[in-house]
Amino acid sequence: MSQTPATVLLAVGGGIAAYKTAVLCSRLVQLGHEVRVVMTPSAQRFVGPPTFAALSGRSVGIDSFEPEQYPTGAHIELAKALDLMIVAPATANLIGKFANGIADDLISTLYLQCDCQMLLAPAMSELMWSKPSVQRNVQQLRADGCQLIGPEEGWLSCRSRGAGRMSEPEDILEKARDILP
Ligand SMILES: Cc1cc2nc3c(=O)[nH]c(=O)nc-3n(C[C@H](O)[C@H](O)[C@H](O)COP(=O)(O)O)c2cc1C
Repeated sequence: MSQTPATVLLAVGGGIAAYKTAVLCSRLVQLGHEVRVVMTPSAQRFVGPPTFAALSGRSVGIDSFEPEQYPTGAHIELAKALDLMIVAPATANLIGKFANGIADDLISTLYLQCDCQMLLAPAMSELMWSKPSVQRNVQQLRADGCQLIGPEEGWLSCRSRGAGRMSEPEDILEKARDILP
Protein backbone atom coordinates (compact mmCIF):
# COMPACT_ATOMS: atom_id res chain seq x y z
CA MET A 1 0.00 0.00 0.00
CA SER A 2 1.17 3.51 -0.82
CA GLN A 3 2.55 5.36 2.17
CA THR A 4 0.64 8.43 1.04
CA PRO A 5 -2.48 8.36 3.20
CA ALA A 6 -5.39 7.07 1.13
CA THR A 7 -9.10 6.78 1.71
CA VAL A 8 -10.21 3.18 1.37
CA LEU A 9 -13.71 1.73 1.39
CA LEU A 10 -13.47 -1.78 2.80
CA ALA A 11 -16.55 -3.81 1.85
CA VAL A 12 -17.03 -7.08 3.73
CA GLY A 13 -19.14 -9.87 2.22
CA GLY A 14 -20.64 -12.88 3.96
CA GLY A 15 -17.99 -15.56 4.02
CA ILE A 16 -15.83 -17.19 6.68
CA ALA A 17 -12.87 -15.21 5.37
CA ALA A 18 -14.40 -12.05 6.88
CA TYR A 19 -12.24 -12.75 9.94
CA LYS A 20 -9.16 -12.19 7.77
CA THR A 21 -10.62 -8.88 6.60
CA ALA A 22 -10.44 -7.66 10.21
CA VAL A 23 -6.66 -8.08 10.01
CA LEU A 24 -6.61 -6.27 6.66
CA CYS A 25 -8.58 -3.40 8.21
CA SER A 26 -6.15 -3.12 11.09
CA ARG A 27 -3.12 -3.17 8.79
CA LEU A 28 -4.59 -0.44 6.56
CA VAL A 29 -5.23 1.75 9.59
CA GLN A 30 -1.72 1.13 10.95
CA LEU A 31 -0.34 2.32 7.60
CA GLY A 32 -2.13 5.62 8.14
CA HIS A 33 -5.07 5.17 5.78
CA GLU A 34 -8.64 6.27 6.42
CA VAL A 35 -10.72 3.11 6.29
CA ARG A 36 -14.50 3.21 5.89
CA VAL A 37 -15.98 -0.24 6.51
CA VAL A 38 -19.29 -1.45 5.11
CA MET A 39 -20.76 -4.89 5.72
CA THR A 40 -23.53 -6.98 4.21
CA PRO A 41 -26.11 -8.51 6.57
CA SER A 42 -24.49 -11.92 5.94
CA ALA A 43 -21.03 -10.57 6.78
CA GLN A 44 -22.38 -9.49 10.16
CA ARG A 45 -23.24 -13.13 10.91
CA PHE A 46 -19.50 -13.92 10.73
CA VAL A 47 -17.86 -10.87 12.36
CA GLY A 48 -19.67 -8.18 14.33
CA PRO A 49 -19.64 -4.53 13.24
CA PRO A 50 -18.13 -3.48 16.62
CA THR A 51 -14.92 -5.28 15.65
CA PHE A 52 -14.56 -3.23 12.48
CA ALA A 53 -15.72 -0.05 14.21
CA ALA A 54 -12.98 -0.43 16.81
CA LEU A 55 -10.31 -1.35 14.27
CA SER A 56 -11.19 1.46 11.84
CA GLY A 57 -12.10 4.06 14.45
CA ARG A 58 -15.28 4.87 12.53
CA SER A 59 -18.86 3.69 12.53
CA VAL A 60 -19.57 0.82 10.16
CA GLY A 61 -22.03 1.17 7.28
CA ILE A 62 -24.59 -1.60 7.47
CA ASP A 63 -27.71 -0.11 5.91
CA SER A 64 -28.50 2.11 2.92
CA PHE A 65 -31.18 3.91 4.90
CA GLU A 66 -29.63 5.83 7.79
CA PRO A 67 -31.09 9.32 7.29
CA GLU A 68 -29.78 10.74 10.54
CA GLN A 69 -26.15 9.86 9.82
CA TYR A 70 -26.33 10.06 6.01
CA PRO A 71 -29.13 12.43 4.95
CA THR A 72 -28.32 12.11 1.23
CA GLY A 73 -27.90 8.31 1.42
CA ALA A 74 -25.07 6.20 2.80
CA HIS A 75 -24.09 5.13 -0.74
CA ILE A 76 -23.59 8.79 -1.72
CA GLU A 77 -21.66 9.95 1.32
CA LEU A 78 -19.47 6.88 1.80
CA ALA A 79 -18.45 6.92 -1.88
CA LYS A 80 -17.09 10.47 -1.77
CA ALA A 81 -13.37 11.12 -2.28
CA LEU A 82 -12.29 7.47 -2.28
CA ASP A 83 -8.97 6.22 -3.62
CA LEU A 84 -9.84 2.54 -3.57
CA MET A 85 -12.72 0.16 -2.85
CA ILE A 86 -11.61 -3.24 -1.58
CA VAL A 87 -14.19 -6.05 -1.41
CA ALA A 88 -13.02 -8.86 0.84
CA PRO A 89 -14.32 -11.44 0.89
CA ALA A 90 -16.01 -10.91 -2.46
CA THR A 91 -18.78 -13.51 -2.31
CA ALA A 92 -20.29 -15.21 -5.36
CA ASN A 93 -23.39 -13.16 -4.60
CA LEU A 94 -21.60 -9.77 -4.60
CA ILE A 95 -19.63 -10.70 -7.72
CA GLY A 96 -22.89 -11.59 -9.45
CA LYS A 97 -24.54 -8.34 -8.42
CA PHE A 98 -21.58 -6.18 -9.44
CA ALA A 99 -21.32 -7.88 -12.85
CA ASN A 100 -25.00 -7.34 -13.54
CA GLY A 101 -25.66 -3.85 -12.21
CA ILE A 102 -27.83 -5.02 -9.33
CA ALA A 103 -28.00 -2.54 -6.45
CA ASP A 104 -30.24 -3.99 -3.76
CA ASP A 105 -28.08 -3.37 -0.70
CA LEU A 106 -25.50 -0.87 0.54
CA ILE A 107 -22.39 -2.56 -0.91
CA SER A 108 -23.81 -3.28 -4.36
CA THR A 109 -25.17 0.27 -4.54
CA LEU A 110 -21.77 1.65 -3.47
CA TYR A 111 -20.13 -0.38 -6.22
CA LEU A 112 -22.20 1.54 -8.76
CA GLN A 113 -21.70 4.89 -7.04
CA CYS A 114 -17.90 4.66 -6.58
CA ASP A 115 -15.64 6.10 -9.28
CA CYS A 116 -12.41 4.88 -7.67
CA GLN A 117 -10.32 1.80 -8.42
CA MET A 118 -11.83 -1.56 -7.42
CA LEU A 119 -9.99 -4.48 -5.88
CA LEU A 120 -11.90 -7.71 -5.26
CA ALA A 121 -10.65 -10.64 -3.20
CA PRO A 122 -13.01 -13.54 -3.96
CA ALA A 123 -13.50 -16.38 -1.51
CA MET A 124 -15.79 -19.37 -1.82
CA SER A 125 -15.79 -23.14 -2.11
CA GLU A 126 -14.04 -24.66 -5.09
CA LEU A 127 -17.36 -25.82 -6.56
CA MET A 128 -18.82 -22.31 -6.31
CA TRP A 129 -15.70 -20.75 -7.83
CA SER A 130 -15.72 -23.20 -10.75
CA LYS A 131 -19.35 -22.63 -11.71
CA PRO A 132 -19.66 -21.19 -15.23
CA SER A 133 -21.95 -18.42 -13.99
CA VAL A 134 -19.37 -17.26 -11.43
CA GLN A 135 -16.55 -17.41 -13.98
CA ARG A 136 -18.66 -15.43 -16.48
CA ASN A 137 -19.29 -12.77 -13.85
CA VAL A 138 -15.59 -12.62 -12.96
CA GLN A 139 -14.67 -12.20 -16.62
CA GLN A 140 -17.22 -9.41 -16.92
CA LEU A 141 -15.79 -7.62 -13.88
CA ARG A 142 -12.26 -7.82 -15.28
CA ALA A 143 -13.56 -6.39 -18.57
CA ASP A 144 -15.26 -3.63 -16.57
CA GLY A 145 -11.89 -2.63 -15.08
CA CYS A 146 -11.95 -4.35 -11.69
CA GLN A 147 -8.76 -5.86 -10.35
CA LEU A 148 -8.94 -9.24 -8.68
CA ILE A 149 -6.58 -10.96 -6.29
CA GLY A 150 -6.95 -14.70 -5.74
CA PRO A 151 -8.62 -16.85 -4.82
CA GLU A 152 -5.71 -19.06 -3.83
CA GLU A 153 -5.43 -22.83 -3.64
CA GLY A 154 -5.36 -24.14 -0.11
CA TRP A 155 -7.36 -25.22 2.88
CA LEU A 156 -11.02 -24.24 2.66
CA SER A 157 -13.45 -23.95 5.54
CA CYS A 158 -15.57 -26.70 3.95
CA ARG A 159 -12.75 -29.01 5.09
CA SER A 160 -11.14 -29.70 1.78
CA ARG A 161 -8.26 -28.34 -0.25
CA GLY A 162 -8.83 -26.49 -3.50
CA ALA A 163 -9.17 -23.14 -5.23
CA GLY A 164 -11.33 -20.64 -3.38
CA ARG A 165 -9.34 -19.46 -0.37
CA MET A 166 -9.21 -15.68 0.05
CA SER A 167 -5.74 -14.19 -0.41
CA GLU A 168 -3.89 -13.32 2.78
CA PRO A 169 -4.26 -9.77 4.14
CA GLU A 170 -0.60 -8.94 3.44
CA ASP A 171 -0.99 -10.00 -0.21
CA ILE A 172 -4.12 -7.88 -0.58
CA LEU A 173 -2.19 -4.93 0.92
CA GLU A 174 0.63 -5.49 -1.56
CA LYS A 175 -1.81 -5.52 -4.48
CA ALA A 176 -3.44 -2.35 -3.17
CA ARG A 177 0.00 -0.71 -3.09
CA ASP A 178 0.43 -1.58 -6.77
CA ILE A 179 -2.92 -0.07 -7.66
CA LEU A 180 -2.60 3.20 -5.75
CA PRO A 181 -0.34 5.91 -7.17
C1 LIG B 1 -20.75 -21.05 7.00
C2 LIG B 1 -20.97 -20.34 5.69
C3 LIG B 1 -19.88 -19.98 4.94
C4 LIG B 1 -20.03 -19.32 3.71
N1 LIG B 1 -18.94 -18.98 2.99
C5 LIG B 1 -19.10 -18.37 1.80
C6 LIG B 1 -17.96 -17.99 1.06
O1 LIG B 1 -16.81 -18.18 1.46
N2 LIG B 1 -18.16 -17.40 -0.14
C7 LIG B 1 -19.41 -17.17 -0.65
O2 LIG B 1 -19.52 -16.64 -1.75
N3 LIG B 1 -20.51 -17.49 0.07
C8 LIG B 1 -20.38 -18.07 1.28
N4 LIG B 1 -21.48 -18.41 2.00
C9 LIG B 1 -22.80 -18.09 1.45
C10 LIG B 1 -23.11 -16.60 1.60
O3 LIG B 1 -23.07 -16.21 2.97
C11 LIG B 1 -24.48 -16.31 0.98
O4 LIG B 1 -24.43 -16.55 -0.42
C12 LIG B 1 -24.93 -14.89 1.25
O5 LIG B 1 -26.17 -14.68 0.61
C13 LIG B 1 -23.92 -13.87 0.76
O6 LIG B 1 -24.41 -12.57 1.02
P1 LIG B 1 -23.55 -11.27 0.72
O7 LIG B 1 -22.93 -11.44 -0.60
O8 LIG B 1 -24.60 -10.19 0.73
O9 LIG B 1 -22.60 -11.11 1.85
C14 LIG B 1 -21.34 -19.03 3.24
C15 LIG B 1 -22.44 -19.36 4.02
C16 LIG B 1 -22.26 -20.01 5.22
C17 LIG B 1 -23.46 -20.35 6.05
